[in-house]
Amino acid sequence: MQEREKFGSRLGFILVSAGCAVGLGNVWKFPYMCGKYGGAAFILIYLIFLVLLGFPIMVCEFSVGRSSQKSCAASFRELEPPGSRWHNYSYLGIAGNYLLMMFYTVVAGWMLYYCCRSLTGEFTGQSLTVDQVAAKFGEMTGSPGTLIFWMVLAVVISFGICSLGVQKGVEKITKIMMICLLALIAVLAVHSVTLPGAGEGLRFYLIPDFERMMEQGLGNVVFGAMSQAFFTLSIGIGALAIFGSYLDKDRSLSGEAVSIALLDTLVALLAGLIIIPACFSYGIEPGSGPSLIFITLPNIFNQMAGGRVWGTLFFLFLSFAALSTVVAVFENIISFAIDLWGWERKKAVLVNILLLILLSMPCALGFNILSGIQPLGPGSGIMDLEDFLVSNNILPIGSLIYLMFCTTRYGWGWEDFIQEANTGKGMRFPAAMKGYMTFILPAIVLLIYLKGYWDMFAGQGTGYLLPWMAAAVLFLAFTGWSILGRDRDQKKKGSTK
Ligand code: PHE
Repeated sequence: MQEREKFGSRLGFILVSAGCAVGLGNVWKFPYMCGKYGGAAFILIYLIFLVLLGFPIMVCEFSVGRSSQKSCAASFRELEPPGSRWHNYSYLGIAGNYLLMMFYTVVAGWMLYYCCRSLTGEFTGQSLTVDQVAAKFGEMTGSPGTLIFWMVLAVVISFGICSLGVQKGVEKITKIMMICLLALIAVLAVHSVTLPGAGEGLRFYLIPDFERMMEQGLGNVVFGAMSQAFFTLSIGIGALAIFGSYLDKDRSLSGEAVSIALLDTLVALLAGLIIIPACFSYGIEPGSGPSLIFITLPNIFNQMAGGRVWGTLFFLFLSFAALSTVVAVFENIISFAIDLWGWERKKAVLVNILLLILLSMPCALGFNILSGIQPLGPGSGIMDLEDFLVSNNILPIGSLIYLMFCTTRYGWGWEDFIQEANTGKGMRFPAAMKGYMTFILPAIVLLIYLKGYWDMFAGQGTGYLLPWMAAAVLFLAFTGWSILGRDRDQKKKGSTK
């Protein structure tokens, strides 16, 4: 068998994992959720979830990856006790990676397109009205050709990087992108907080407004904060586990997880610090949903001195964030075929370029030709469905599975997990978390999961509520059954260990 490629340096590992974590979740979802759910009040709940829920699960993923030396397509089979069926989760994990990319590539394309549009001065000009800038977003989403062109570009660039290999491609290029991203974010944040009138925005952002939070319903806020914590850290579908498998045993995994989570949080907080004061400075409500970035901000840049330069730098920053995530998840997707069938990297890249272009079509067309399909309620689209399936379903349930796999003796088990996590220099994993991780954490995830479903659909009428609630319960039951039962075929095949 071929020797598994490794990262060239520790910094490479941290920046690639942080590149995977830092993405649309930080720069797009986080600022508008903050705006909607009461600024710092939301941030507070979100930070609690990051520490209590995100951190332990992240260490679980890294440990499974490093110990098995495989991607999530094969890692469970490698580590599970003979006769068990944890490996069935691999299919859901694989599906989650593809599903995520089915809309992520489209939005990454938007970022690239907006970067070019800002550079060419399309958004700046005295005669340009607020409505005209807003209409430019509609022009883009209304044109299948434009959406497809930029999506294909994002797919080809990212797979191109992966085709160069782990060290020469993914590690080298992501490192450059992440260093540029950090430099850009610092410059942009300083500029934003020094705008006239930014102080009020800072107050909104940094002083908790519990009243506004309660107006949105505590259930919604908690569900939102939990989903956001899973999404932003990239946990639940083995997207990080793969980088554990390229890692040597020099360093303990908890310390690395802390660095990555800190970097991710820093970028999210700074992205808010760029966007929110700028909104206040120009007298615009920041809570205006996903259009915040593509409509509100270009308008702000249009009014700002030097707006063309600031706008271009801002969208360049967003493009790096999006592409570093796409590259990381593509690396995971490529490794499925490599780990399962021993494919050559080049072959896996070529097949997946075609596959992902095809799979991203429904999302791109959902904004125009297929806009009549509104599965999550009036006004929603195919992208919302894909996002919902991954972010609010596969990520939390997948995280639950990683967690149980590492804590119970029916899975890989606590002893092996803790030993792997603690191999190497650096921070030890807090062993006192065992009881909490085995019993309390899974219960919290399950409860918030079901409650979130209820809150989301209760307002849409029983026509949406009943089928979706039934789907949630069936999904849970099926996943539980397929993983927790015993595998009868296993005896015939014999154990791999
Ligand atoms: N963390 C990424 C972001 O914030 C999204 C992601 C989720 C990536 C799950 C991989 C797995 O944009």
